Amino acid sequence: MSTKESMHIDPYERAWIGVSIVLLVIFMAAIGVAGFALGIQVPSPEQRVDPRTVASDPNSPWSEPGLRELAPGKYEAYILAQTWAFLPREITVPVGSTVTFYVTSKDVQHGFKIQDTNVNMQIVPGQVSKLDITFDTAGRYDYICTEYCGAAHAIMYGTVIVEP
Ligand code: CUA
Repeated sequence: MSTKESMHIDPYERAWIGVSIVLLVIFMAAIGVAGFALGIQVPSPEQRVDPRTVASDPNSPWSEPGLRELAPGKYEAYILAQTWAFLPREITVPVGSTVTFYVTSKDVQHGFKIQDTNVNMQIVPGQVSKLDITFDTAGRYDYICTEYCGAAHAIMYGTVIVEP
């Protein structure tokens, strides 16, 4: 086989190589725009905790899960996931509020998705998942478990009530 033959690339193959390179460049540009221009965050592993004591240690914010008001319209919500409930089951904020969710699990892996929003995190025992969201529209937003976690997984949910 001559060198020329072994180097032969079919024109279609060459075209598709070109297409895949262009797609890669577009995808990388999209990640850059999403991250830097639009400020879209990936749920970050905020801190590590001990899942055996996270609910009982009085120094742990998840020993009293719930909403804390930092300033007018600015809240933190400490949510504890366990089989098969979120604590608290309900939080209420005024419309326009920004809430930073800190969610962790005291037992197995759960999910935390707030319906009709972009909030969707995996909740891994020992790790804290954090995400901000601003509620611009009044209504009820259920947060549901999205990781199969046992028999009553399907009824594991809570509600954010956004008041007008
Ligand atoms: Cu918790 Cu499914």
